Amino acid sequence: MDIKSEVLTELKNMKLPISVSNYEKMFVLSVDGKNGDVCFPCFPLAKELKIAPNKIAENLASSINEQIKKNSIIEKAEAVNGYLNIFAVKQVLAQKIVEEVLNKKEAFGKFDTYKGKTVVLDYSSVNLAKYMHIGHLKTTIIGLVMKNVCEQLGYKTVSINYVGDYGTPFGKMIVAYKKWGNKEDVEKRGVDAVQDLYVKFNQEAEHDESLNEEARLWFKKIENGDKEARELSNWIIELCRGEVERLCNELGAKFDSWRGEGYYTDKMQPVIDELNEKGLLKDSEGAKIVDLTEYGLGVCLIQKSDGTSLYATRDLAAVQDRYNNYKFDVAFYITDVAQKLHFAQWFKICELLNKPYAKNLYHIAYGRYSLPTGKISSRLGKQALLKDLLEAGINKSRAIMQERGTKVTDAEAVSKQVAVGAISYEALKYEKVKDTVFDMDESLNFDGETAPYMQYTYARCCSILEKSGEQAGLTNDMFENINAEQGYELIKLLNKFPQTIVDVYDKKEPCLLIRLLMDIASEFNKFYTNNRIIDNGVVNKQNLCVVNAVKIVLENGFKIVNIPAISKM
Ligand code: ARG
Repeated sequence: MDIKSEVLTELKNMKLPISVSNYEKMFVLSVDGKNGDVCFPCFPLAKELKIAPNKIAENLASSINEQIKKNSIIEKAEAVNGYLNIFAVKQVLAQKIVEEVLNKKEAFGKFDTYKGKTVVLDYSSVNLAKYMHIGHLKTTIIGLVMKNVCEQLGYKTVSINYVGDYGTPFGKMIVAYKKWGNKEDVEKRGVDAVQDLYVKFNQEAEHDESLNEEARLWFKKIENGDKEARELSNWIIELCRGEVERLCNELGAKFDSWRGEGYYTDKMQPVIDELNEKGLLKDSEGAKIVDLTEYGLGVCLIQKSDGTSLYATRDLAAVQDRYNNYKFDVAFYITDVAQKLHFAQWFKICELLNKPYAKNLYHIAYGRYSLPTGKISSRLGKQALLKDLLEAGINKSRAIMQERGTKVTDAEAVSKQVAVGAISYEALKYEKVKDTVFDMDESLNFDGETAPYMQYTYARCCSILEKSGEQAGLTNDMFENINAEQGYELIKLLNKFPQTIVDVYDKKEPCLLIRLLMDIASEFNKFYTNNRIIDNGVVNKQNLCVVNAVKIVLENGFKIVNIPAISKM
């Protein structure tokens, strides 16, 4: 429910010292309950009206208080230090909110805002030569959450995993395979065998420079379409891609397209021609560049002197391909902040090329992870791997459930859902720009403010409803005496849910939603401690409505932030 506009509607029907319609934008929702529900700062009017701010607030407050009608949503107005604070009638407000949630159910928090529009999201997009590690977590989860948020707002979404299936790493792997590998082992152990070879290559290359030269030659062969080179690299790529897809699936991230960088290697000429025609391309020591220094963006390398293509060039080809395929209205790219310049550069080039999509490209950048021991280095092999994190999470939750003597029949599935929740929470809990130190124990900590705590709260709602729901038979007339005194803060949090989804989209900041859901969970647990829902076998139907509303909002929210909703745990 839009508390602000309901209040404004009533104010507009009153005769007040100022015309509310002229100042609508200045009315805001109060941050805390003590200052009412809607607040209006009077300072900006003081100059214009030549009256002290608090005097304006006082005049408004007394005028409003005189005109409050029966059944109004406004309880009273107060002037405090230049602010006009308006209090809503708790009972009316609480009732309207709960009614809305229970009527809309899964549609609570859904909008038509971008109906008919398409968004392309490029996320996860890992380089296949490496295991997926903690450094790939945020792109995968933040990307997934942004996709869910876009769908919530009516968009048609296209998720693309633009895998890094191109480049010298694959030359290295071929060299390593030919020197130290064998087919059976790779067929049997798959990615693990390939990874071992890659690590071995890097170790050996440290004291044998000729290996790198060999790898470069094999990479050239891949590029030139040499049969053996293509076959070997495709084989390795498919293995690695399969593993990445498996892991993404486990985490709940499914993609509509896996068209990776490699696809564009032989589709670069049109990009280069177009840059040339528009007079943007310059020669620089044999290489081709676009000079962006006048925009403070340095120089963007388009083609190396040996003719090989570059990351930016492939992105330019890929975005055009996506536009041709999906006619997107907006495109989001989710990577760590280290790629800021890269995206700024080629976005600018799209603008200089007058591309119709130039203004609709967004880079969503997030801070990087490091380990308590320092930087993550995949050259060192198995550091902070996502598959290990997932496995550790599953083991831990299984152990906790056993310890607590769980009665759930599908303990295995539940342990996995708990692990996925904890991992998603890890990726979303801070503002996205923050650099984070990853600590396995900490991220799998199940006490305090954690995903399992939220999931447990949801399960509690489900069990209360199951125990009492049927005999109570929830009907709309029960909202009338909703427990507004005790449940007010909780119910107001529920009301923030739809707007928070919009805020996440506008600010590209998923932590806003996860924080709201956490607040709802802890406020609910307070409510549950202080209020009887079933007393001596008698169900308090009003409180039960609140439980049901909380359950609906948590469920809708969990879906967005990739925390599985578990009814029994
Ligand atoms: N594969 C790249 C990396 O791991 C990220 C790709 C991001 N997407 C893009 N269109 N450039 O750094």
